[in-house]
Amino acid sequence: MVEQKDPKDWTRVATLDQCLPGNLFGVQVGSLKIVLANVDGTIYALEDQCSHQDLPLSDGYLEDDQVECIYHGARFNICTGTATSLPAIKPVATFNVDIRGGDIYVQSVE
Ligand code: FES
Repeated sequence: MVEQKDPKDWTRVATLDQCLPGNLFGVQVGSLKIVLANVDGTIYALEDQCSHQDLPLSDGYLEDDQVECIYHGARFNICTGTATSLPAIKPVATFNVDIRGGDIYVQSVE
């Protein structure tokens, strides 16, 4: 299980135009890399680090509510971060998202 830290401040990380429906978009919040996913207009945020070999999930693809890692094919549920396909077993962290106007905010845990 991914260790949950206390949430801190909201950080503006992107605009909605940068993460269109069906797409992934990688951003950085401090030292933390996050991948945004737009599922039919709803934005989700996950740690941008596959739990298999720590490679960026933002290089992969979004299919329905799953993000697929381009490197070895692991899949993760975009809402929960749960690994749904081997070779990944462990989940990835998820983050709260808020949309304000045309901007995407993520609640940092750093
Ligand atoms: S690094 Fe993602 S499946 Fe191997």
